[in-house]
Amino acid sequence: MSEKQPVSRRRFVGGVAGALGYLTLSPNPDLWAQAARAGGRRAAGAQGDEYDALAKLAFNENPYGPSDAVMEAMNGAWKYSNRYGYPDGDIAEEIAKHHGVERENILLGAGSGEILNLVGVAYLLGGKKIVGVEPTFSSVYSHASGIKADAIRLPLLEDYRQNIPAMIDAVKKNYRDVGFVYLCNPNNPTGRIVTRQEVRQLLDGIPEDVPVLIDEAYHHYVEDPAYATSVPYVREGRQVIIARTFSKIYGMAGLRLGYAVAPREMLQRMRPWSTGSINALVKWGGVAALRDTEAEARVRRTTLELRKKTVAELQSLGYPCVPSECNFFMVHLKRPVQPVIQAFREKKVAVGRPFPPMTEHLRVSIGTPEEMQRFMTAFREIMPATRAATGTGG
Ligand SMILES: Cc1ncc(COP(=O)(O)O)c(C=O)c1O
Repeated sequence: MSEKQPVSRRRFVGGVAGALGYLTLSPNPDLWAQAARAGGRRAAGAQGDEYDALAKLAFNENPYGPSDAVMEAMNGAWKYSNRYGYPDGDIAEEIAKHHGVERENILLGAGSGEILNLVGVAYLLGGKKIVGVEPTFSSVYSHASGIKADAIRLPLLEDYRQNIPAMIDAVKKNYRDVGFVYLCNPNNPTGRIVTRQEVRQLLDGIPEDVPVLIDEAYHHYVEDPAYATSVPYVREGRQVIIARTFSKIYGMAGLRLGYAVAPREMLQRMRPWSTGSINALVKWGGVAALRDTEAEARVRRTTLELRKKTVAELQSLGYPCVPSECNFFMVHLKRPVQPVIQAFREKKVAVGRPFPPMTEHLRVSIGTPEEMQRFMTAFREIMPATRAATGTGG
């Protein structure tokens, strides 16, 4: 790495020793170096310092940040900062190759959030509606209401899974009005999956010209063999748009890169609203991230181990957790969540917001081992041990 490069690895490394506390779990030097870089960033002023001091378990981010290979690739791209037409590492071709589709099946977005918004304008304008569940990643619904479109929001099943037969029914009953179906798989905030059979049931159960937006932001964390990506449906030419992001497993949320995989004509309908505002650094970083499968596996392994450990501890305290396949989970507090969120904040632990109608569930993102230890310490201070755990009777 040359002296001239604006971001040096050395500047980021250091100060990660604290992260070793909760670490009976597969300590991995590479991941700690990654975490040190992420934690070592300092924004100017009090606001930045206050932010840095928080255990950040609110937004389902990857606390370790981009891998070494990604940092190196991005550092090599600074020289394009002052250019428009620059080599971009063939990011779209790389993504297409990664999924076994054609370049024409890929549309880049500044985060998958941009993709979701593009689907919104392309398929809702003119008074159409979304069909989806609640709670889910609700920015899809807020964007819809911003463009004066409506949503048909269906409740989750008792076990917090998405109700596929109800979705099919809602689409059939409102066929003329439906702009698209939104299926977040796995679902945020519950962490529950829709199985590959259920996805097929949905696609086969609705009229074939109704588009389905399948948001796979947390795809990389899933272990359940009943789950599968829906990208193969694009190859079949079905009316599906798959949204993916570099914000989660690749640790690049602040850099903004996501994409859609979809049939060409669906992307053509979305393209006029795309801003193309993706920066040079993240395009090169994205290519490196797709190739750095070792870093991806490390983040996945450590995150899942920590999730399982934290969930087991909470359950042993008498607090049931929704079975999650993601880098976050929900714990049932059995009391309103809002004051608890505030109490965590006072202890410098940022946790998820309320997700109505699940207002007694707290969503917790998986941070570093040190952050999870801070979470558990705060949890024990804030929440009473339940009868189930203390054995004081029922
Ligand atoms: C399910 C889901 N989809 C999309 C996004 C948007 O992510 P980004 O715009 O960073 O790609 C998020 C972010 O948390 C999410 O949880």
